[in-house]
Amino acid sequence: MAGPLRVGAEPLHIGIAGLGTVGSAVLRLLEQNRALIADRAGRELRVVAVSARNRQRDRGVPLERFRWYDDPLALAADPEVEVVVELMGGADGPALALCRATLAAGKPVVTANKALLAQHGAELARLADANGVTIGFEAAVAGGIPIVKTLREALVGNRIRRVYGILNGTCNYILTTMRETGRAFDDVLQEAQQLGYAEADPSFDIDGVDAAHKLALLSALAFGCPPDFAGVFTEGIRHVSPLDIAFASEMGYRIKLLGVARLTEHGLEQRVHPSMVPTGAPISQVEGVFNAVVAEGDQVDTTLYAGRGAGGGPTASAVVADLADLAKGACLPVFGVPAALLTRLPRAPMDRHYGAYYFRLMVVDKPGVMADVAACLRDHEVSIEALIQRARNPGEPVPIVLTTHEVAEARMTGALARIGGLDAVLEPPRMIRIESL
Ligand SMILES: NC(=O)c1ccc[n+]([C@@H]2O[C@H](COP(=O)([O-])OP(=O)(O)OC[C@H]3O[C@@H](n4cnc5c(N)ncnc54)[C@H](OP(=O)(O)O)[C@@H]3O)[C@@H](O)[C@H]2O)c1
Repeated sequence: MAGPLRVGAEPLHIGIAGLGTVGSAVLRLLEQNRALIADRAGRELRVVAVSARNRQRDRGVPLERFRWYDDPLALAADPEVEVVVELMGGADGPALALCRATLAAGKPVVTANKALLAQHGAELARLADANGVTIGFEAAVAGGIPIVKTLREALVGNRIRRVYGILNGTCNYILTTMRETGRAFDDVLQEAQQLGYAEADPSFDIDGVDAAHKLALLSALAFGCPPDFAGVFTEGIRHVSPLDIAFASEMGYRIKLLGVARLTEHGLEQRVHPSMVPTGAPISQVEGVFNAVVAEGDQVDTTLYAGRGAGGGPTASAVVADLADLAKGACLPVFGVPAALLTRLPRAPMDRHYGAYYFRLMVVDKPGVMADVAACLRDHEVSIEALIQRARNPGEPVPIVLTTHEVAEARMTGALARIGGLDAVLEPPRMIRIESL
């Protein structure tokens, strides 16, 4: 049915494309809490049609009562389907085609697909506006944490200064386990894969791409710009070593993969990378597979939201929240303001990033090394905040760890390039940014 959704006692008729972890959890949740959800949504949320690749696969939920489509695009064309829930995944291909077709048919979309919206969000938001409908994507950012609704509705009166968070549970699990056990990255990654916390191909998670998708969506909501995934500086956690984690603890920090977006005098800074966060900051206590988002508003000040960022139940909870809003007739602009008002912001380059740094050198301990390191830092106007030098066994490389006062990243990387070239420095310096919280 084209046009706005009806508000009343009629059920909301839903089509779901994708019956994997999230899709089957949505079916289970709608069944398990059907009456409760109907009371709260004002009418029943009723699935009438589904699509997946393999019709024979057992999904732990009976599918006989739903119309089955091999082609997910058929959901958009089904006259009974009023809302399409896209849970197939993928930035392009069938997910993109289905969202376009659904919106063009004047029907709203609900999706958990951050890759799709990070890359095509602006186009899809325009299409939604043009057809008088919306896209619910609560499930696409931090799973069960209601951060989209919070930014789009609850914090609407605030100018957001900065939004940041632990946006990938796989990375947080790996970093937490490395800290607790002292084990190496590869070893913990393998265990995470066995436990089902990491994909067989984990690169999207551990290289920061998944967090960057989510950050691009948070930025759009917080700063009223089109999602700019290509503008997110992205560095993953492969190079984080147990040694750095141990030094971080000694200096009063934990290492977290943070996504940070903030407005600076140079434009919008969006970055995902391992960060040193003070152990006393609440976000540093968010451990294991949990996610957290902090939004700083000019009126509300600092707010923190934490919870499960993935998994069938938490993600389905977010999908159902969007469906309930649609059932009640809500039709907010996708990114909080009409797509025509989304304003592209200049990208603040990383070499203009201004902050403090941790770095570790492995050196041959001989007279003059520290003087040479200090000279490189002085020449680039980097000032030292703290230094740890370990006792050595004769002939063994010695770690030297330094933290700096705040400085522009270009100066820091310039100094480290020179330091890395010193004869006594045995491997490339390891640098981790310190987040000021
Ligand atoms: N898993 C999570 O915890 C989580 C959390 C937040 C967001 N998300 C997002 O939610 C989405 C779904 O994730 P998931 O973990 O549920 O994925 P998944 O378990 O791999 O399930 C994907 C589903 O899509 C179906 N599918 C794939 N291509 C299709 C096509 N061309 N036509 C019809 N159906 C197709 C698959 O069918 P078959 O089953 O027949 O192969 C499968 O049922 C992704 O965008 C993901 O990023 C997931």
